[in-house]
Amino acid sequence: MQLKNRISIITGASSGIGRGIALEFAQEGAKIVIADRQEKPLKGKYHEKDVTTTTIQEIQNLGAEAIYIQTDISNESDVKNLMNKTVQHFGGIDILVNNAGIHIPGESQDISIQEWDKVVGVNLRGVFMTTKLAIPHIVNSEHGRIIQIASVHAFGGGAGPAYASAKAAVVNMTKDTALEVGKHGVTVNAICPGYIETAIQDYLSPEDIQSSLEKTPMGRLGIPKDIGRAAVFLASDDSEWITGTSLLVDGGACAKT
Ligand SMILES: NC(=O)c1ccc[n+]([C@@H]2O[C@H](COP(=O)([O-])OP(=O)(O)OC[C@H]3O[C@@H](n4cnc5c(N)ncnc54)[C@H](O)[C@@H]3O)[C@@H](O)[C@H]2O)c1
Repeated sequence: MQLKNRISIITGASSGIGRGIALEFAQEGAKIVIADRQEKPLKGKYHEKDVTTTTIQEIQNLGAEAIYIQTDISNESDVKNLMNKTVQHFGGIDILVNNAGIHIPGESQDISIQEWDKVVGVNLRGVFMTTKLAIPHIVNSEHGRIIQIASVHAFGGGAGPAYASAKAAVVNMTKDTALEVGKHGVTVNAICPGYIETAIQDYLSPEDIQSSLEKTPMGRLGIPKDIGRAAVFLASDDSEWITGTSLLVDGGACAKT
């Protein structure tokens, strides 16, 4: 077990990629805090149509330990509560996975300024707040890790201005935070997923999904477990000299120029 007893906060872990990461961490013996605005998993139109159990139920089936703390990561008092309750319950924080994120489709003329604020408020400001408030605890860990779930859209357009900007900023924040906490032995890295089969894709048409599949050299779309295994590596001792970097996990979709 690579993450035995490592106390891990995973934001957005009720559904999709966060849930996939939580289940892989549980298999590796981590103690998990599910920080999501809702405990019920999202059901997608194309993917994750039949998910009914909570992430905690699945973790308990694996014989691991988890708690749910209701958290909106764009709300400062929720994030403070998340850190306080985690430390009260488990006694510290070893790993923070900043996974929670939202997407509002549309180009600059479609989305409102309020929608820009909403996306950036969760996907960038929210990541900053959880990181800022977790660092005082993570620096006390022997195995401190911060893992950001960014996106292939950090490196290119096509997902709307707010989403693309926030994800690119998270990649650069990863480097800045890595410089800050390296002296405490804490690593900070980003994973940039390509198309992963989750409810976030509900806005797409079947033709869009087919086109994503055709652009993926590995011949299938991604599943949450693909990101979960990459996150286990970045959380484990095997990656202790890797920091400030971004790992594309996209089935090769970005390999073509
Ligand atoms: N699915 C993909 O193809 C893909 C690709 C690249 C990056 N990502 C990123 O991966 C992350 C997870 O996406 P997903 O596909 O699993 O999405 P999802 O919509 O399936 O799940 C997102 C989870 O985050 C929670 N959440 C949303 N806003 C929150 C908030 N303010 N506070 C706390 N929890 C909140 C939701 O309740 C949900 O449980 C996001 O950051 C997303 O941008 C996804």
